[in-house]
Amino acid sequence: MSTAQSTPEAISRIRLTRRAAHVPPSATAALDAQAKALIAQGVDVINLTSGEPAFPTVEPAAQAALDAIATDFTRYTPAAGIPELRTATAKFLNRHGTAYEAGQVVITAGAKQALHYAFTTLVEPGDEILIPAPYWVSYPHLAALAGGTLVPVQPAQGSGLKVTADQLRAAVTDRTRVLLLNNPANPSGVVYDRTELAALVQVAIDHDLAIISDEICDHWTFGDAEHVSVAALGPEAAARTLTIGGVSKTFAMTGWRIGWIAAPTPVAQAVTAIQSHTASAPSSISQKAALGALTADLGPELERRRLELDDRRLTTIKALAGIPGVEVAGNPIGAFFLFADVSATYGHTLAGRTITSAADFAELLLTEANVAVIPGADFAAPDHVRISYTVPPDRLAEALTRVADFVARLGSGVA
Ligand SMILES: Cc1ncc(COP(=O)(O)O)c(C=O)c1O
Repeated sequence: MSTAQSTPEAISRIRLTRRAAHVPPSATAALDAQAKALIAQGVDVINLTSGEPAFPTVEPAAQAALDAIATDFTRYTPAAGIPELRTATAKFLNRHGTAYEAGQVVITAGAKQALHYAFTTLVEPGDEILIPAPYWVSYPHLAALAGGTLVPVQPAQGSGLKVTADQLRAAVTDRTRVLLLNNPANPSGVVYDRTELAALVQVAIDHDLAIISDEICDHWTFGDAEHVSVAALGPEAAARTLTIGGVSKTFAMTGWRIGWIAAPTPVAQAVTAIQSHTASAPSSISQKAALGALTADLGPELERRRLELDDRRLTTIKALAGIPGVEVAGNPIGAFFLFADVSATYGHTLAGRTITSAADFAELLLTEANVAVIPGADFAAPDHVRISYTVPPDRLAEALTRVADFVARLGSGVA
């Protein structure tokens, strides 16, 4: 007798679309999950895989959310977001020299959803999206969901992990539709300066490409680095750029899920229409929280946090400089990651396992030294691992000692 109950067999008879079947789970999330599973078993793992600063949500955001609940601000909002938040976001973005107005801003459920809308709005099946490598793991899948293909442009040896305008230009085909930039860059922490960025943007202008500029880490620049917003590079740049950002990283609000797209008005209108049918709008409570963050005087607190992360960054760079075989790539002066080339450890054996890839290195480091880092294959950099230095200083110091001991155990010859 058949029942209406869903069984594993019934579920397995559902045929997924090619689109859905070809999207693997995020590699960063997978390693994070592996590390968390070990922690749950009582293993003292230090997790350097995280994509978020380990600070609490800024207080005015939390208070604004509580107020929103207390006043029953719990209904659908306008599809593009509440007007006050769109205005506050435009003002916040314009600190980098752009000239956005509220009507050009759409509030989304995180920068990730903003990116999904951006691809949906710009990319036709078969279109190519140019991107400097290494790049963030979600981009190829977001492009593929829209029917597009990501075309990575690899930096030359000795370039400090930066691609040039000439390299980009050489990769343009008649299918190229979008230039995707992520500055400061995840996973490398590299920051393109104004001149370098302007040269890349000029390629987009010359070939009439749209630009998706993911600036989610705009607050996190260190040393001499300055954040340059692509849409501030002149009217030609602004006219073809979708600026992506959000409160996740700057205000330590990753779980609140508030991001944005700022773009020329027709794009903002198209995105709003899509959002009206897919999400209605982001959470009303989270929008109020984001408004609380954007309108409070948080300058000193954010600067304190930035300097704290800078300390951790410098500690990590210094410690890695003393570890043979783990070589920091490029100049990590942004975001909260650095990328290390571990190819010099290949051929070395520990616990019966020989390292032949950065994935082997990361797995052995986790199982033998209880430190989690992310191998670079999914960032289009298979000889590297990404190290997130956001953990508290004592844990970071302990993790770096463990990495040094681990490499020492690999034996002589790691140079
Ligand atoms: C480069 C980059 N873009 C976008 C996002 C997504 O951010 P959000 O939490 O706002 O969705 C992340 C998060 O890890 C990121 O690293």
